Amino acid sequence: MTERVHESTIGAQSRMITVEIMGRPYSVPDGLTMLRAMWYTGHEVVRGAGCLGGFCGACAATYRTKDDVRLRNTLACQMLVEDGMSFFLNFSYYPNRKSIYDLDQISDPKQELFKIYPEASLCRNCNACTEACPQGIDVRDGVWKAVFGDFQKVSEMFMDCVMCGQCIPVCIADIAPNHVALYASRAHGARLTAPPQNLTRRVDEIRSGKYTDEWKKILSMSEEELKAAGQPSK
Ligand code: SF4
Ligand code: SF4
Ligand code: FES
Repeated sequence: MTERVHESTIGAQSRMITVEIMGRPYSVPDGLTMLRAMWYTGHEVVRGAGCLGGFCGACAATYRTKDDVRLRNTLACQMLVEDGMSFFLNFSYYPNRKSIYDLDQISDPKQELFKIYPEASLCRNCNACTEACPQGIDVRDGVWKAVFGDFQKVSEMFMDCVMCGQCIPVCIADIAPNHVALYASRAHGARLTAPPQNLTRRVDEIRSGKYTDEWKKILSMSEEELKAAGQPSK
């Protein structure tokens, strides 16, 4: 994954460059992210702006750089504008099917994939999803790994998935690869790995009432007492 842009380190520099936003040319300061360039030029971006840190996936955008025919996808809060760049923010929501499932009620999570997302096995290997992913995930390979039951590998491969949805509209087999991967990752974590021992022990302690008195004491404390209790002891 590419290094994240930290908004606080970006200063609007004096050099002005020309970019095209949704087909119209604008002059903007060099050094802005795409998202800030949109705000700078008066575009109201409400849907499409979230964390500004490259994590929430709300700001999916498509762009082309000067003299490059290829369309590329990115996260607009992470991509700096370039002179001659043309871009738009993908405000669209793709009405993909998100299956509802209860992992506790599933007897065989790997087989259940074919009931929950039967289209996953129809992948035609076109690789468009991988090409569309701004996070550099090998999405096509992830779909195949899910179909072949390697849920652990899927969960590792999709660790950086921000659910931007860019892989959905390009799929010629009507698969929503991100949701297939999310199911495989959830099933792996919830059903196919041993529960973490320390966490299990602590939950048992809480249920047995080990911390009840301490908890009641904390709840009865004033704000000042809580602040004082939070100070490191000298
Ligand atoms: S896998 Fe799909 S939803 Fe996840 S980051 Fe890549 S394009 Fe976005
Ligand atoms: S876009 Fe769809 S059909 Fe093409 S490789 Fe990805 S999942 Fe398979
Ligand atoms: S606004 Fe959250 S990833 Fe860009």
